[in-house]
Amino acid sequence: MPQENTGPVHATVEASDCMKCHEDVVFTLAHKGKAHKEICLECHRGHPPADMQIIPECNSCHDEAGQKHFALDNCMGCHVNPHTPLVIKLTRNITTPCLTCHTGQFEQLQEKLSIHSKLACTACHNYHGQIQPCQNCHLPHSDTMDSNSCKKCHMAHQPLVVAYGEDIVSEDCGSCHTEVYGVMSENKTKHRGVTCVSCHYETHGMIPACQKCHGQWPHPTEILNKFTNCRECHGMAHDLMATDYITNVFRK
Ligand code: HEC
Ligand code: HEC
Ligand code: HEC
Ligand code: HEC
Ligand code: HEC
Ligand code: HEC
Ligand code: HEC
Ligand code: HEC
Ligand code: HEC
Ligand code: HEC
Ligand code: HEC
Ligand code: HEC
Repeated sequence: MPQENTGPVHATVEASDCMKCHEDVVFTLAHKGKAHKEICLECHRGHPPADMQIIPECNSCHDEAGQKHFALDNCMGCHVNPHTPLVIKLTRNITTPCLTCHTGQFEQLQEKLSIHSKLACTACHNYHGQIQPCQNCHLPHSDTMDSNSCKKCHMAHQPLVVAYGEDIVSEDCGSCHTEVYGVMSENKTKHRGVTCVSCHYETHGMIPACQKCHGQWPHPTEILNKFTNCRECHGMAHDLMATDYITNVFRK
């Protein structure tokens, strides 16, 4: 007895079938698929010719409310291949999309304007997570300066704010202040052993009071009151023996 004609058989494909015809995709997912590895059929529901619309929108899954990142356009402009979701390609002019995750760096760049504030994030961060050394774009201030020392004085996102701790060697200040550095090196007093930053600490350009370290010791107040400041007798801080000052005192 002939069987009743039920029309064309609607073939269904299973995950294990994909391999037979899309070996490269299955292979790519297995190696670089990350969280997308196991969800082949959740993305591709059905198969041509029975189902023609089987390419999913990213937002059909990544649409959590309040996630600014998922409101961006053109996901695949950066996540170039849905089968390798964390392989990310960045062009050199990207800023706003980065701010969907990193806001602090942008705030720093805006708070203290410098030419860095005008550059795109990806002008410096060419690929995601990359940290470039300053020397890729700048020369050190002198040949003696350790080219990795930049961050001891400058912050990447606020480069014009020069601030430093106690670990700056005097040679580094001497890169620009060659004259002072020279005077300090020749100087025969105990200030020679004092580093630039132990006197000029924290902020660039700060001038310390002698009393910060010495108090008024060892001189009696009555004597000090007759003089406007320590320099009248001791000359300049960099060269306590500076002769013109000493002569001045003895002339009085
Ligand atoms: C028998 C071979 C075969 C098997 C098995 C197979 N495919 Fe395909 N697939 C094809 C061919 C051929 C095309 C191109 C069809 C077309 O463009 O009309 C294709 C196209 C596709 C496309 C692209 C569709 C588009 O709109 O561009 C996707 C996605 C796809 N297959 C996913 C899968 C998945 C997932 C599986 C496993 C569940 C699978 N395929 C199993 C042969 C196969
Ligand atoms: C996270 C969702 C997602 C998963 C998981 C996924 N795909 Fe895709 N797939 C896509 C998207 C989106 C495209 C369209 C890519 C494009 O437009 O360039 C695509 C395109 C394709 C294509 C056509 C273009 C090509 O690269 O050959 C095939 C074939 C395919 N997928 C097969 C598979 C198979 C087989 C699996 C599982 C083993 C799979 N995909 C898993 C989202 C997914
Ligand atoms: C069918 C649902 C689905 C679709 C469609 C989908 N994804 Fe996913 N994706 C997931 C799930 C589930 C995860 C793992 C959990 C999470 O991070 O939300 C994930 C994770 C990711 C990750 C992080 C990967 C990891 O291992 O940490 C990226 C990046 C990603 N998806 C990008 C995309 C992009 C781009 C598209 C569009 C091309 C897309 N997804 C489409 C379901 C999907
Ligand atoms: C300008 C480039 C860019 C665009 C456009 C972009 N992403 Fe991303 N995405 C990234 C970067 C960079 C990461 C961080 C990757 C990491 O942590 O390694 C990321 C991470 C993710 C993650 C994993 C982390 C998380 O928050 O869950 C998912 C999922 C994701 N993107 C989905 C999307 C979707 C969906 C779109 C489109 C609506 C999109 N992305 C558009 C660059 C982009
Ligand atoms: C979806 C969220 C997301 C997006 C979008 C994103 N990032 Fe990230 N980024 C992260 C996460 C998560 C880390 C890892 C955090 C960590 O290691 O502390 C990271 C790390 C970094 C790091 C390295 C931090 C370190 O301490 O080594 C840099 C640099 C960076 N991102 C720059 C960018 C730039 C530039 C963009 C825009 C092109 C961007 N990110 C877009 C989430 C994102
Ligand atoms: C990808 C290249 C790049 C990197 C990396 C980079 N810069 Fe810059 N920087 C520039 C450009 C371009 C300018 C503007 C032209 C110039 O002064 O050379 C600039 C300017 C500056 C200025 C002067 C700013 C102004 O407004 O006058 C300082 C200071 C500076 N950079 C310090 C640094 C420090 C410190 C680092 C490392 C933490 C660094 N830069 C990393 C490209 C870069
Ligand atoms: C002029 C180059 C330059 C620009 C422009 C720049 N960065 Fe950076 N960024 C750096 C350098 C250099 C570091 C490493 C700082 C360090 O190690 O102290 C860094 C560090 C980071 C880090 C690691 C965490 C931290 O704060 O140290 C993140 C995240 C980051 N940048 C994101 C961004 C984002 C987002 C933008 C755009 C809004 C941006 N950067 C613009 C050079 C730059
Ligand atoms: C000992 C502290 C110190 C160190 C270390 C240091 N800088 Fe500077 N840098 C300064 C000061 C102070 C200025 C500002 C000078 C001024 O006001 O003109 C400056 C200015 C700059 C400028 C602006 C243009 C210029 O030359 O005046 C750039 C660019 C720069 N530094 C890059 C670097 C780089 C790259 C390194 C690491 C190789 C570095 N700096 C290490 C203190 C330092
Ligand atoms: C990149 C060159 C550069 C470097 C490196 C540098 N300076 Fe300067 N410094 C200058 C310039 C230019 C001035 C004068 C302009 C100004 O007042 O900002 C100056 C001014 C000063 C002043 C005098 C401020 C005043 O009121 O007269 C002191 C003190 C000073 N620097 C100390 C230091 C110390 C300490 C270091 C090392 C931690 C250092 N500098 C590193 C360039 C530099
Ligand atoms: C950051 C701290 C600091 C500051 C500020 C400072 N000094 Fe000193 N000074 C020292 C130290 C340390 C010595 C060496 C003490 C020792 O070895 O007994 C010293 C030694 C001296 C001596 C003795 C020199 C010798 O060779 O016997 C004189 C005089 C002196 N300081 C004067 C001054 C005057 C004047 C000023 C201000 C212009 C000043 N100091 C600022 C730390 C400082
Ligand atoms: C009237 C001149 C005069 C004034 C003003 C003066 N000093 Fe002196 N100071 C001297 C003489 C003289 C000595 C002894 C020099 C020597 O022993 O070589 C001396 C010695 C010192 C010593 C070294 C003491 C030791 O035993 O090594 C210090 C430190 C010192 N002075 C700090 C100061 C400070 C700080 C001020 C300002 C508050 C100051 N002096 C103001 C004349 C002066
Ligand atoms: C013992 C403390 C002390 C040390 C060490 C010291 N300074 Fe000074 N510096 C001063 C004081 C105090 C002044 C203010 C002028 C004065 O009283 O002599 C000054 C003034 C300056 C000035 C501005 C006036 C000028 O002479 O150009 C610069 C620049 C400077 N110092 C840089 C340096 C550098 C660079 C070093 C290291 C090589 C250094 N200083 C070491 C205390 C010190």
